[in-house]
Amino acid sequence: VNHLLGIKYINKNDIDLIFETADHFKEVINRPIKKVPSLRDVTIANIFFENSTRTKLSFELAQKRLSADVISFSAAQSSVKKGETLIDTVNNILSMKVDMVVMRHSNPGAAHFLSKNVKASIVNAGDGAHEHPTQGLLDSFTIREHLGEVGGKKVVIVGDILHSRVALSNIFALQMQGAEVMVCGPKTLIPRYITELGVKYEPNLRKALEWCDVANMLRVQNERLDVNYFPSTREYAQQYGLDKQLLDSLNKEIIVMHPGPINRGVEISSDVADSQQSVILNQVENGVAVRMAVIYLLASKIK
Ligand code: CP
Repeated sequence: VNHLLGIKYINKNDIDLIFETADHFKEVINRPIKKVPSLRDVTIANIFFENSTRTKLSFELAQKRLSADVISFSAAQSSVKKGETLIDTVNNILSMKVDMVVMRHSNPGAAHFLSKNVKASIVNAGDGAHEHPTQGLLDSFTIREHLGEVGGKKVVIVGDILHSRVALSNIFALQMQGAEVMVCGPKTLIPRYITELGVKYEPNLRKALEWCDVANMLRVQNERLDVNYFPSTREYAQQYGLDKQLLDSLNKEIIVMHPGPINRGVEISSDVADSQQSVILNQVENGVAVRMAVIYLLASKIK
C-alpha cells in the first residue's frame, strides 16, 4: 500500500517498522547535521483544508530533514476559494510532478476518497472526526519511549471522544500493540459505538486516573460542537479538567499527554501541562521523527 489513510488499515508489524525507523531518525535529528539525503528525488505537497500548527510544520520539517522538495498549500489562500474541486486541485498540483500528498481535510473519508481518485501516495494528516494516524503513531511512540513498551499499559483518553480523530487513531494503535484502553468524559461527548471497539468507559475522572498509567487529555472541539451542547465549558473544566491537586492526590505517577492545541484551564491546568509528568512537548518532538519514518517508508515504495 502506498498510502497512510488510517491506523485501521495497517498492522502491528507496520507499527514496529515505523517505530524502528523513527528511532533511527530521532538519533539523526539530534546530530549537529540533522539532514539526510534519502529523498532528494521525491517531491511532496502538503495540502491543508483545515488549520494546523503542529502537524503542518512537523510534516514540513520531516520532509526537509529527508531532503525532499516540499510545497505547501493552505486552502484559505488558494483557488479552492474560487470554487475549484478537491480532485481538480490535487490533479493540478500533481501535474507539477509531485509524488506524495499529505492532506488535512474537515470531511471524514477525504483522504480515502483522494487515494481512489488521483495517482499519488496519500498521507492522511487528519480527516474530520475520523482518523489522525501520525498523531496516533507519535502518541504510542512517546509512551514506548517513556514506559519501555506499549503492550500491557493502561491508557485513558479523556474528553471529547465524539469529535476526535486523535481518539480513534490512538484506540486502534494502542489496541494493536496490546494496551488496554479506556475513555472518560461526559456521555454527550462519547460515541455510542465505543464499547463495540473493546474500549472501557468510565464517567468519573478520578476513577479513570486511578486505573491508568497514561492519561491523554483531549481538547473539547468547540468548532465541531453544537452551541447548546452539555456540559458547558465551565462545567466541563470542573468535572473533567485535570489540575495539579487531582494529579498529586493519585497514589502513583502517571504520564500526562495532550495532542495540542491546549485549552489551558479547561481540559488541563497550566501547572499540569508544564509539570514533570507532562510529555506534551516530547510528543511534538517525536512527531518529526515518526513522520520522517512514515514518509521514508512510503517513498521507498514509490521510488
Ligand atoms: N495535534 C495536532 O493535530 O495539532 P495541529 O492541529 O496544530 O496540527
